[in-house]
Amino acid sequence: MSAVTYNDGQVIVLSRQQQQQQQNPDSPPRRIAWLCHAVDARHLAALDPSVAHLTNEALEEYFEPRGGFANPAVMSCVEVQSRTGAKTLLYPILLPVTSQWMKRRIESRRRQECQVLIQKGVELARYLDCGVVALGQYTSIATRNGRSIDSYGMGVTTGNRYAVALAIQGINRALHERVLTTQNQTLVIVGAAGNIGRACAEILTPQYRQTILLGSRKSASRQRLQEIAAALPRVEVAVETDAIARGDVVLVSTNSVTTPLNASHFKAEAIVCDVSVPANLDLRVATLRPDLEILTGGIVRLPFGEELHIKGFPLPTGYTFGCKHSLICFRT
Ligand SMILES: NC(=O)c1ccc[n+]([C@@H]2O[C@H](COP(=O)([O-])OP(=O)(O)OC[C@H]3O[C@@H](n4cnc5c(N)ncnc54)[C@H](OP(=O)(O)O)[C@@H]3O)[C@@H](O)[C@H]2O)c1
Repeated sequence: MSAVTYNDGQVIVLSRQQQQQQQNPDSPPRRIAWLCHAVDARHLAALDPSVAHLTNEALEEYFEPRGGFANPAVMSCVEVQSRTGAKTLLYPILLPVTSQWMKRRIESRRRQECQVLIQKGVELARYLDCGVVALGQYTSIATRNGRSIDSYGMGVTTGNRYAVALAIQGINRALHERVLTTQNQTLVIVGAAGNIGRACAEILTPQYRQTILLGSRKSASRQRLQEIAAALPRVEVAVETDAIARGDVVLVSTNSVTTPLNASHFKAEAIVCDVSVPANLDLRVATLRPDLEILTGGIVRLPFGEELHIKGFPLPTGYTFGCKHSLICFRT
């Protein structure tokens, strides 16, 4: 076993296999880390079967006070190959807290608690000799896109741009298959004031007949949306979900930890692309609304379909989130 001592004096051990891979001279020289956290409490329970019998709410309550004492864990160490043949050693590093744990702190001026944990993840990446670290899921939101962490000279990526590119690619492909053109379509962006939503609005709005920027019902939301809309053509803003029913194309990218969108929200035969992690569409939407084309945005297939061995993550084998794949594309 090999131990890492964090700046606060706490210690974490690497498994024998991780240590061997670390010292193997044949390992690819390029090493990268992806910081992630549990999507929800059920996901954490997959790592701790002793609490698997609890309800989702009870699980969140169980994990809530423990997050502040948690240390990041290296979930696996996987060689990932690109189409060019170049190989990279990828370390997924899990912060053992949920999206809800992060969101509660982001919204209650306790971001610092998230940042301490994320900084430990960065320390671990440095110990593993990584050249780049990607801030997955809410870790980019909590650190203001990496601005509030010390990266110790490593490259930092949020993967947001790549997630945007994947979402747009998916929507364009769906439109192309149906022989539809954007000039005749109404686009709704749910979460339009966020990092991803705003970038999508800036790129996509000029192409569509009309765009509706939708935000949360928080007091400052409408103003944030209006500031974005002021620089864009043919745009309306809204904070009520009934506006979604006007969308031929709906791009969803919010930081909601619930599933705010259900089968009744969408126009007939709409194309719906949900980039959010956790997903914002109620699981029953696909069954109840077979007329919709639902795209799970921001997910990408690895060229050689490697298994990433991140226990409990809601991804099929060989697939990954754009925020992680952006790492593999990243040139150091
Ligand atoms: N698949 C991938 O590779 C990938 C990559 C990066 C991020 N993500 C995911 O993408 C999502 C967005 O990330 P981000 O960085 O853009 O987040 P962000 O900057 O925090 O923005 C999220 C926006 O969501 C809005 N919102 C929250 N609840 C809402 C609701 N019920 N209805 C409408 N709007 C709502 C907020 O609106 P107001 O400002 O109006 O309050 C906020 O502006 C997250 O779930 C993240 O995990 C996925």
